[in-house]
Amino acid sequence: TSNAMWGGRFAAGPDAIMEAINASISYDRRLAPQDIAGSRAHAAMLAETGIVERSDVEAIREGLLTVLSEIEAGEFAFSAALEDIHMNVEARLKALIGDAAGRLHTARSRNDQVATDFRLWTRDQCDAAIAGLDALIAALLDQAEQGADWVMPGFTHLQTAQPVTWGHHMMAYVEMFARDRGRLVDARRRMNESPLGAAALAGTGFPIDREMTARALGFDRPMANSLDAVSDRDFALEFLAAASICAMHLSRLAEELVIWSSAQFRFVSLSDRFSTGSSIMPQKKNPDAAELIRAKIGRIVGANVALLTVMKGLPLAYSKDMQEDKEQVFDAADTLMLALAAMTGMIGDMSANRAALAKAAGSGFSTATDLADWLVREAGLPFRDAHHATGALVARAEAKGCDLPDLSLEEMQAVNAAITQDVFSVLGVENSVRSRTSHGGTAPEQVRRQIARWREMQKGR
Ligand code: ARG
Repeated sequence: TSNAMWGGRFAAGPDAIMEAINASISYDRRLAPQDIAGSRAHAAMLAETGIVERSDVEAIREGLLTVLSEIEAGEFAFSAALEDIHMNVEARLKALIGDAAGRLHTARSRNDQVATDFRLWTRDQCDAAIAGLDALIAALLDQAEQGADWVMPGFTHLQTAQPVTWGHHMMAYVEMFARDRGRLVDARRRMNESPLGAAALAGTGFPIDREMTARALGFDRPMANSLDAVSDRDFALEFLAAASICAMHLSRLAEELVIWSSAQFRFVSLSDRFSTGSSIMPQKKNPDAAELIRAKIGRIVGANVALLTVMKGLPLAYSKDMQEDKEQVFDAADTLMLALAAMTGMIGDMSANRAALAKAAGSGFSTATDLADWLVREAGLPFRDAHHATGALVARAEAKGCDLPDLSLEEMQAVNAAITQDVFSVLGVENSVRSRTSHGGTAPEQVRRQIARWREMQKGR
């Protein structure tokens, strides 16, 4: 049998393989609420403009609500023969209300319909990701506040570099996630224009009111160009790009949690709620959630690359290739929300081991830069000479198997005669972090200022 939607031109139905490659209903059923909202807005506009009789439009709008409730109740029989969510909904509407259903598609195409549905869906995901990021930022702010002055080693090359504060390290992630938030806010603003009314590609001769449907669906305005409206998927790509960068940040933090929770570091303990055990090694408490967050970026970046690749060679306007947009964005969005929730849970539950952090902060010659700076400040050495002298002292301490503050004054003076007892005051990690008062620096007073600033900005979000 040929198709109910376009059977006029067709004598035979599709091959089973054709149906298998063509049907998207197995996944685009997720767009049902958006599809029905879009159709209801379109129908209301058709009545308002006098394009369709008000009585038909009322039947259409009521019938669509029935379809939605059937879908929500799990009572809807989706059909692959009807290809996608748009035709499944319309066919059911026809079964419910009869011929009036056939008027719904006046001045519309599935091309502007799907573009509208997918924008609405992706806009919701931006909102969800923004809310997820706000929760994560709040959890990081709590961690930062608690340990604003706790010392820990700061690393470069994962080698001990200079002491920093726990609060400073947490706040570095707050900055990153806040930028991710900003990217989603930006993307949302740009995507919030309505494709509805672009019809197949060229617009329509019916006297439609695109402002009205745009407003009804919460869009800021109709899109300006009908070809662009049905062709564009860069709104989805922007979401995926922002999601990819956010996933990269999540992955870096996850990697730190994996390292920090190891027996060798012991910087943090993760809660039982976010850890797993081993079936053979009784002592194990594994950071599986962190590892999975670290890995999930693969799917999100994969989706971004996949959709870019789908889109890159497509001539204007719509091509069926674009149906491949949805599974990528669905999976990336689901993955991002899960990773954000898991990270927020882990950060909220995590306890930092203040003593282990402090112990590590003082090892590995972490205050060598402070010593060199002291030589510059107090003994007037050029920084390069101070660097050299300090290097010699580090070599000495290393040979003795001790840290810098464990060297005697005599040993220090053998390297540079200008060194006095006063140098020991800068070799302590507490003094070291307290001295880093420059804008954005690790000094607790700076960190507290950063926390207060973000608390203020997060208020009312
Ligand atoms: N399921 C299709 C999609 O997701 C809807 C648009 C179909 N348009 C068309 N001209 N075949 O892209």
